[in-house]
Amino acid sequence: MEGFPVIVKTLFGLESVLAQEMEALGLQNVKILNRAVRFEGTMDDIYLSNLSLRTALNILVPIDEFEAFDEQELYYNIKMIPWFDYLEVDQTFSISATTSSDTFKHSKYVSLKSKDAIVDKFRDKFDQRPSVDTQNPDIEINIHIYNNKVTVSLDSTGPSLDRRGYRLSKNEAPINEVLAAGILLTSEVKNHSVIYDPMCGSGTFSIEAAMIVTNTAPGLNRSFSFQNWSNYEPEVFEAIKNGLIEKQTAPTAKILARDTDRKALDITAENAERANMDEFISLKQEDFFESVPVDSAGIIILNPPYGERLNPQKIEEFYKSIGDVLKQKYLGHEMWIISSNFNGLRALGLKPTSKKVLFNGSLECKLQKYEMYEGSRRAFN
Ligand SMILES: C[S@@+](CC[C@H](N)C(=O)[O-])C[C@H]1O[C@@H](n2cnc3c(N)ncnc32)[C@H](O)[C@@H]1O
Repeated sequence: MEGFPVIVKTLFGLESVLAQEMEALGLQNVKILNRAVRFEGTMDDIYLSNLSLRTALNILVPIDEFEAFDEQELYYNIKMIPWFDYLEVDQTFSISATTSSDTFKHSKYVSLKSKDAIVDKFRDKFDQRPSVDTQNPDIEINIHIYNNKVTVSLDSTGPSLDRRGYRLSKNEAPINEVLAAGILLTSEVKNHSVIYDPMCGSGTFSIEAAMIVTNTAPGLNRSFSFQNWSNYEPEVFEAIKNGLIEKQTAPTAKILARDTDRKALDITAENAERANMDEFISLKQEDFFESVPVDSAGIIILNPPYGERLNPQKIEEFYKSIGDVLKQKYLGHEMWIISSNFNGLRALGLKPTSKKVLFNGSLECKLQKYEMYEGSRRAFN
C-alpha cells in the first residue's frame, strides 16, 4: 500500500525523542515539526504507532489542505471533502480546531462553521445528519489553520495517548504520562539497573519506567478512534498488537517507588496493577531524607513538590536538603529532576550536566541532570 502523510502530535520539547521512537519503529520519512513529527505510512503504521509511541499525543491523518480567506471559503471547502468516505450518517463526530491566523481568530467558530458544512452535506443527500458528540465521538476531526492554510485531518487516536488506561486514581499534581515517558527516554533509563522514583505520588514515572524496561507498548490497554473507521481491519490490528505482546521481556532494571504519603503509595499500587506492571515495582513508604541507596549505582528520577503553596524559604530549604542527601549518600548515581521552581533548583547546590525546558501542564519547567560520580565529582560546585 502506498504511504500517506501522518502528523504525530507531542508536547513542546519532546519532538526529537518522539522522532527517535518513530525511527526505531521503522517509520519512513520522519521529519520534526513544531510540537509534532511527520512520517509517511500506511494504516498498519497507524495501528503500530498508536499502540507503541510513548511520547505521542494524537496521530492525525490529513485528508485535505486548502487556502481560505473568509468563512464562506472555509465552509465551501469543508463541504467539498468527500465526507461519506469517512463518516456514516448514524455515527457521531466531533471537531477540534487550532488556529493561528488573522482571519480565523476563534477556534470555536471554526469548529462550528465546519460542523455546519459537514452536517449540510449529509442533509442535502440523505435528509438526515450525523450527530455531534463531544464526549465520546466515533469519528474525530481535527482542523488546523495557520495563516490562511487549512489542514483537515482525521484523528486516528481519539482521547490523547497519555490516557493509557491505567491512571484512574490521581494524587496531587500527577505528571502527564507522555511527559514522564519523554523524561525517562531522554534520561536513557534503559541503561541503568536501578531506577529510583523517591517521590512517586501516583506512580507515573515508575509505571512508565516499568513499561520501558519490559518493552511493553503503552497502548495495549486502550481503544483508538481508527477502530470506528470504515477501513478498519480488526484482524490486522490484533496481529500487530499480538506481535507487540510477544516482544515483552523480563525487566532489565529494579524499580523503586517511594513516598512519605501512604495514600500516594496506595494509588501507585492501584495504577501499577491496572497497567499490569505491579510485579516489577517495589513500593515502600519512605522519607527521601532518611533513605539509603539499595545499590552503589542507579538513576534517580525526581518530580518534587514545586512549592506553589509553600513559603519560598521553606521550599528552598527543602530543595537544599535534597541536594545534601544526594551529595552525602548517592555518590555513583545520576539524578534527573523536573521542577518549575528555579530558585529551588539553584538551592540544590549541585551543578547540572544538562538542562532542557519542558512544560508540566502550563508550568514552564526545567529538566536538569546531575551526575554524582565518584572521582569526577562533576555535580559538585
Ligand atoms: C509532585 S508530587 C509527585 C507526582 C508524581 N510524579 C505523579 O505523577 O503522581 C510530589 C510527591 O512528593 C512526595 N514527597 C514530599 N516530600 C517527600 C519526602 N521527603 N520523601 C518522599 N516523598 C516526599 C509527596 O507526598 C508527593 O506525592
